[in-house]
Amino acid sequence: MSDESRSTPAQTSVAAVIPAAGRGVRLGPGAPKALRALSGTPMLIHAVRALAASRHVALVVVVAPPDGAAEVKSLLDAHALPDRTDFLVVPGGESRQESVRLGLEALPPQYGIVLVHDAARPLVPVDTVDAVVEAVRDGAPAVVPALPLADTVKEVAPAAEAGEPEPVVATPERSRLRAVQTPQGFDRATLVRAHESVTENVTDDASMVEQLGLPVVAVPGHEEAFKVTRPLDLVLAEAVLARRRLNDGF
Ligand code: CTP
Ligand code: MG
Repeated sequence: MSDESRSTPAQTSVAAVIPAAGRGVRLGPGAPKALRALSGTPMLIHAVRALAASRHVALVVVVAPPDGAAEVKSLLDAHALPDRTDFLVVPGGESRQESVRLGLEALPPQYGIVLVHDAARPLVPVDTVDAVVEAVRDGAPAVVPALPLADTVKEVAPAAEAGEPEPVVATPERSRLRAVQTPQGFDRATLVRAHESVTENVTDDASMVEQLGLPVVAVPGHEEAFKVTRPLDLVLAEAVLARRRLNDGF
């Protein structure tokens, strides 16, 4: 490709990959987490709407539970979504990492920027999505939304015996720590390379780019981008939705 024909980061199209293939073991028994309802609407639909709300996002790829792709397709058909956004559904894998890779493999060639967003973060505000896209467009190969921590964090060693107290080995300085959310944004080629070369299990995509030795930057995250992980998080999510309905009503 000549330099003239290569699109610059400012022009390139943005796709979002939404891994939604997890079981939700920590949420307790029931349907796969992404398909559980929040205020009557599946969590996944909230997450898809949150990403499609960004005018930057032209395609959303949903990575469905391995045996649930048909169900997810009919859910997307049944809910109102913006016309300017395209949707694709692919079946996911055993780990989050594998699910993201399967989503990346389904991306048509024209998308040069990829957002990866957990279906389990259904309430991320559009301003957070846009801030991540803009930082990638400004040239960062990888961008994470991040928040300062409220709790002090301790590193512990395994207990001598199961059930015994764990020895604390270190206390990292809290002001230098961040809790990282999604959507994480990437130059597509960088993320693909990260998925090809990092094989050990990771809990976020940006750490794979760090392992390549490339810079990752953090932009401000948002409280409402929290991950629905345990039952109490459902209570918080319902409360956030109720607050939004009240604010919209006045
Ligand atoms: N995920 C995925 N494929 C997997 C595992 C997880 O697409 N094999 C997705 C989940 O659907 C979720 C996101 O990755 O949207 C973040 O994962 P997490 O919050 O851990 O969800 P689960 O793995 O479903 O929950 P748990 O770990 O409690 O089982
Ligand atoms: Mg998990």
